[in-house]
Amino acid sequence: MKKIVAGSSSPMLAKNLANELNIEIADVSIKRFPDGECYVKINEEIKHAIIVQSTYPDENIIELFLLQDALKRMAERIDVVIPYYGYGRQDKIFENGEAISAEKMAKLIQQDADSVILVNPHKEHIIKFFDIEARICDATPTLAEYFDGKIDAVIAPDKGALEMAKKAGEKIGCKYNYFEKKRISSNEVVMEVKDMELTGKKVLIIDDIISTGGTMVKAIEMLRNQGVNEIYVACIHGLFIGNADERILKAGCKEIVATDTIETAYSKVSVAKEIAKYLSD
Ligand code: R5P
Repeated sequence: MKKIVAGSSSPMLAKNLANELNIEIADVSIKRFPDGECYVKINEEIKHAIIVQSTYPDENIIELFLLQDALKRMAERIDVVIPYYGYGRQDKIFENGEAISAEKMAKLIQQDADSVILVNPHKEHIIKFFDIEARICDATPTLAEYFDGKIDAVIAPDKGALEMAKKAGEKIGCKYNYFEKKRISSNEVVMEVKDMELTGKKVLIIDDIISTGGTMVKAIEMLRNQGVNEIYVACIHGLFIGNADERILKAGCKEIVATDTIETAYSKVSVAKEIAKYLSD
């Protein structure tokens, strides 16, 4: 029997996914010992397990490994859904002596899994670190739909997020662009959206991750300089470290929207339906 095994990172998403797939959440005990170490127990027989667990923060990684280990002793198939692939940003050697965390994580996860689904990993090539069946679920169109009819343009804060802005813009039928860096002097760089009249417009800034919020705050300030009327901010993975959300709102953002890959007060869009497409048979 196919069941969802919900790790601690994403209980709401796991529930939504179970509803989408019309299957049950398995009876699982997850506890912490006084010293912080994790204990897991699968309280029923499962033949096909779909684990839902992010690799963020660190304690959820160990929890994932223990769930996989417990399940490999009973299940015939283990699919692992990783809503937020933590450690995905170090996806290559930038400087000698570094680890490639995105690769290491993949090698460890695949030891006890038959397939893996990642929701918007930081870079698509991360999927190639897995030697098992590995798929990417792109939540960008679902996130964009939230803004259908509300905005005039989608802007990426940098070139790296341009593909997201393009997908979002195409989904809801509005223009898209990205911030280009322009050097004013040897120590001054400004960012601007070129070749697009934004005065008085309603603009969405979209990115895969909001961490400290620094990127979004800077982009909001620049858009305000360009005369934008209303600014919205959206991301797939809302980490909101420290007071990132407050800083973004204070900078002049009208609304922050994130998905439920990381469950926060801004998780206004669920990726469950999108993930379910990869799991229904
Ligand atoms: C970077 O490549 C990512 O796409 C995000 O732009 C970045 O993680 C955002 O970080 P922060 O919120 O700290 O500026």
